[in-house]
Parts: sequence; structure tokens; C-alpha cells
Amino acid sequence: MTDALFITDVGPRDGLQSQSTMVSTEGKRALIEALFDAGLRRIEATSFASPKAVPQMADADALIRGLVVPDDARVSVLVPNQRGLERAVEAGAREIAVVLAATETMNRKNIRMGLDQALQTCRDTLTDAARAGLRTRAYVAVAFACPFEGVTAEARVTELALEMRNAGASEIVIADTIGSAAPTDVARVLDALLAHLPPDAVGVHFHDTRGMALANAWCAITHGVRRFDASIGGLGGCPFAPGAAGNLATEDLALMAQQCKLETGIDLQALCAAIDIASELVGYSVGGRSERWLVRQQQRDGA
Ligand code: COA
Ligand code: ZN
Repeated sequence: MTDALFITDVGPRDGLQSQSTMVSTEGKRALIEALFDAGLRRIEATSFASPKAVPQMADADALIRGLVVPDDARVSVLVPNQRGLERAVEAGAREIAVVLAATETMNRKNIRMGLDQALQTCRDTLTDAARAGLRTRAYVAVAFACPFEGVTAEARVTELALEMRNAGASEIVIADTIGSAAPTDVARVLDALLAHLPPDAVGVHFHDTRGMALANAWCAITHGVRRFDASIGGLGGCPFAPGAAGNLATEDLALMAQQCKLETGIDLQALCAAIDIASELVGYSVGGRSERWLVRQQQRDGA
């Protein structure tokens, strides 16, 4: 059996949420369609956050309603609370993600709740989502370090991940929200977590702030993790976490996977078209470390 990575492109949500240029609903739809065309089968499309908190995602309802999703593809949406879940269900979403930050301060900055209340909100949202027949992911954010509270203890991450698992989340996503981790940190957190959870229940979400996202991804692969978030062109950043840069670029992860004989289903040349669309939408040139090389390959092959 071939070994495979399951990549969720979070660019339309994590990548676009903090852009200062407002991106049209049609533009977002075009980007998502280009990602489907490039072979991505998991996309985090938007968030049903308060439009006051995240203006760029104010069109979540319209975007999800008008989206044509291939039969074998999955689209998830982030919901910060039960109001967000209600909106997501109403719009026809089939999969949601909740976010629990591992620290008190980060929860307050992100969703204006302390850790205990955030935990309860996530539990309730997961329960309601399961009742509505939705698939669920749960992020544990700032899982390596918090911009306000410093290094996050791996015992805390494991504890919160298990809370989310017990509340019914089918996938727990360990997120380096500010891109502070080195591979040794990833090993520390995953060693603790994987003593309690099977690797196929775990995903990882890296930002490339310090240029270590791909090294961190490789570390996770060697730990048996196969579920990865990445973002087209490396778009990304959290508006509530100072210093957070873009996500691990989808093209960098997909290229590494290809060279390491891990299936992704992604067509790298078609991915370049999605990068172009992302650049057009945000008004500047985006792209991961490998993007120029991929474009040169494309030119050489006369594609
Ligand atoms: N969607 C739309 N509106 C929402 C909402 C949602 N999910 N949740 C709350 N609201 C509305 C309320 O109805 C209320 O509206 P009103 O002013 O017209 O009465 C208003 O927002 C304030 O509600 P409240 O519960 O007091 O929320 P808040 O102001 O404390 O904000 C959140 C809390 C969670 C809604 C907000 O901080 C948020 O959306 N955060 C998202 C953060 C995020 O997406 N971060 C990036 C990803 S990690
Ligand atoms: Zn992120």
C-alpha cells in the first residue's frame, strides 16, 4: 500500500482572514475551485466568526451556499461558538473546526473568553455539531508557544487534546499559531500526545515564521502523522496573535511529499495556477520556498 499525506489547504480561511484588501466572494470561490482542480480534497474554506471580529470572513454564508464541492472532497469551516455553528449548518456546511487556545490570554484575545469558558464552548459546539451530523476537527492553538504566555507545556496540550477528543472531535489539530516551534519541540509535543492518541486522529498546523515549518512537518511525518494543514502560496497569519506569519506553503509540503514518495493527489503544476490566483486576490506575489523552482519547471516543460 502506498503511504499518503492528507493535506487540508487552509489558505482560504487562515490565509485570507488577516488580509487588509477585502477579497470578493467570487475571488474566494475561484481560489477554492483552483485548489480542487489541483487535486486538493480537503479545504478549510472560511470561518463563521463575528463579522466585527474578522471582517474578511463576513461572507461565509454566501461563500458556502454557492460552493460546488466534488463528491470525493471535504470542505470544513471554522466556528468560534455555537452561533457560528448555527450559521454554518444553515449554509449547508458538512464539517466544522473549533479552536481552543492552550493559554488563558490567547483565548481572551481570540474569542474573548478565558480558557475554562473556551473549553466549555468548544465541548458544547462539538456536541451540537455531532448531533447535526457534521464531521469535526478541533484545533489546539498556540500548542508550542503563546505570544503572551511563552512556552506551552506539552502536558497542557495533551490534556486539552484529550478533552476535545472526548467531546467527539474526529481530528485534533496541533497548531503552531505563531510559527515558533523547532523540530525538537514538535517531537516533544507529539511524543507526549501520541502516547494517548493514534496518529490518524492527529493533524498538525505549522506557520513558517522562522523558516522551520517544513522541517517541523518532516518531524511530524517521522512520528507517523499524516494529516497536515498547509496554505496555498504560504498565505496566512492570525489577526489576534502578534508576529504570526504565513502558513507552511502547500506547494512546499506537496513537493517534499512527492520527492519522498508520499502520495498527496496534488498536481504541482496545477497548484501554480492556484498560487497565481491567490496572488491576484491579495494584490501581491505569494509563494513558498519552492514556488520559483516549480514555475521554472513549468516553463521548461512548456506547460
Ligand atoms: N457569527 C456572527 N455573529 C456573532 C457570532 C458568530 N459566530 N458570535 C457572536 N456574534 C455576534 C452576537 O450576535 C453579537 O451581535 P450584536 O452585537 O448584534 O448583538 C455580537 O457578535 C457580540 O456577541 P458576543 O457573544 O458578545 O461576542 P464577542 O464580541 O465577545 O466576540 C466572538 C466573541 C467569538 C464571536 C468573536 O471574538 C469572534 O468571532 N472571534 C473569532 C476569532 C477568529 O476567528 N480567530 C481566528 C481563527 S483562530
Ligand atoms: Zn494558523
